[in-house]
Amino acid sequence: MKKTLIIIVLLAIVLLYASCKQMLIYDLGQTTAVGIPYQEIPQGLSSLKAETCGACHQAIYAEWRTTMHAAAYTDPFFQAYWRKDEYEWSCLTCHTPLENQLQQRIVQFKGGDFYQPQFTANSGFDPELQQEGITCAACHVRDGIIYGPYPADQLNAPHPVAFDDRFLSERLCLDCHEVPAKPFSFLQSGICGTGDEWKDGPYIKKGYRCQTCHMPEVTRPLVAGQTSRRNGRHLWRGGHSAEQVAKALTITAKRQEKTIKVSITNSGAGHNFPTGDPDREVFITARLMNKKGTVLQTKELHIRRIIIWKPIMIELSDNRIKPLETRTLSFKIPNWLSDQPLTVEVEGVYQILSERARKKLEAHYGLKDYPPIRYSFMRKTFHTDAL
Ligand code: HEC
Ligand code: HEC
Ligand code: HEC
Ligand code: HEC
Ligand code: HEC
Repeated sequence: MKKTLIIIVLLAIVLLYASCKQMLIYDLGQTTAVGIPYQEIPQGLSSLKAETCGACHQAIYAEWRTTMHAAAYTDPFFQAYWRKDEYEWSCLTCHTPLENQLQQRIVQFKGGDFYQPQFTANSGFDPELQQEGITCAACHVRDGIIYGPYPADQLNAPHPVAFDDRFLSERLCLDCHEVPAKPFSFLQSGICGTGDEWKDGPYIKKGYRCQTCHMPEVTRPLVAGQTSRRNGRHLWRGGHSAEQVAKALTITAKRQEKTIKVSITNSGAGHNFPTGDPDREVFITARLMNKKGTVLQTKELHIRRIIIWKPIMIELSDNRIKPLETRTLSFKIPNWLSDQPLTVEVEGVYQILSERARKKLEAHYGLKDYPPIRYSFMRKTFHTDAL
């Protein structure tokens, strides 16, 4: 008995020490731990800014400007959480990945230890470029060359170009979209495990990459007036787009005598639904109604991860819908209603972050001018006489 108690106390001390030493919630790989080294402006161009690229690549620039990649630094939710995390250096290595954008200081690690950063002045810091978040150059420019999905000999470009197969592969995305948890945490998957969710699912075998759904194919010239080519639209829609979220689900209903079964299938997302940011939650509500529209019964599916963050990370549950997985909500129709015409209405609501988190961020961390944190993305009606 005494022995067990001593073991428990020792274990608690070790875990507490581990969590205090590593206040960061994640462990980062080589690429994302330090950001992308300083980049010079490629020959033939006047700056690294997206606007410079946009003077020629107008269609792609117009798309990029509407995305959360372009807003990854200015995003009010990022700014508030970053302030809450005391302007932690490592957040920027994904949200503004180029060293030119990072900040006044550059990070290096003492003895290669991620948890012992050391800082030196960053003479190449460009505050305007920082505002652009994940800008064109963050993905395309390395060592004076603009990399892309085509072999250089097929192009006639005013700047150096070269082929890189990462543009047609998930690897480009997963540097940032697979965020592993730090040691001493008890999560079923990474903090943001979109990459692993996709790898464990059916889409990898079907040949779907992240780009297949998030950069839909279109044929158009790279620069107005030139040869048309197969392009990937730079849209990257996700949880901030009701239209994209609606693509995740197929809802059907079936009647078997006195039971109505509503099926909710993740038929459109290549990963869990929802994915990524652990704040995301989804509510699916089905309402059984009579002819007058009075609600007789309500069933709800609340989809989310429940994680305790401190002092150590423990995931209590995760009921997100896996790719191609189906959940059901069922109604039993009472005898006295069995020959009446009934209606089932199904509504989906997506939540960017909880009301509790919103209040806290607004009161203490300057959250303001943000889009709605909860919105309805889908509404479908079934009539029982047609089922
Ligand atoms: C003065 C016009 C102009 C500017 C400015 C410009 N580009 Fe280009 N770019 C072109 C043209 C023209 C091509 C080749 C089109 C073709 O042959 O179909 C090209 C090709 C490309 C390719 C394809 C490379 C490959 O190998 O697949 C990428 C990617 C690219 N540009 C990105 C950028 C980025 C990023 C910037 C800004 C940092 C930029 N461009 C600035 C005109 C421009
Ligand atoms: C998050 C990374 C990322 C950012 C940011 C980004 N691109 Fe791309 N870009 C890609 C990928 C991936 C492809 C290949 C898409 C495909 O062909 O399916 C691509 C392809 C291209 C191409 C070749 C045409 C095509 O679609 O295949 C051009 C030109 C280009 N990008 C220009 C730009 C410009 C200009 C910007 C900024 C306004 C930009 N890119 C921002 C990832 C990015
Ligand atoms: C340099 C890091 C980085 C790379 C590379 C990257 N992303 Fe992102 N991505 C982010 C960050 C950071 C956000 C969140 C920005 C925010 O909401 O503040 C994001 C957001 C998104 C979103 C969600 C948009 C929304 O509405 O919430 C999608 C979808 C997405 N990325 C897809 C991709 C795909 C596909 C690729 C590969 C072609 C890719 N990303 C490459 C960092 C990256
Ligand atoms: C079969 C199509 C499909 C594939 C493949 C796919 N996605 Fe998605 N993705 C979606 C749909 C639909 C949504 C909106 C529903 C959701 O959030 O799950 C989405 C949402 C997202 C979001 C938004 C999450 C948020 O919090 O706002 C991110 C980030 C994302 N995907 C990244 C990726 C990455 C990275 C890959 C590749 C590993 C990928 N997706 C592969 C269809 C796809
Ligand atoms: C390894 C790359 C990476 C690092 C490091 C990182 N992020 Fe992110 N962040 C992402 C990606 C990718 C997304 C988009 C995921 C999604 O929407 O599913 C994101 C999304 C977010 C969002 C949601 C934005 C929205 O519009 O809802 C917030 C807030 C955020 N990050 C804050 C932070 C803070 C604060 C830090 C530092 C403690 C940080 N991030 C570090 C990659 C990263």
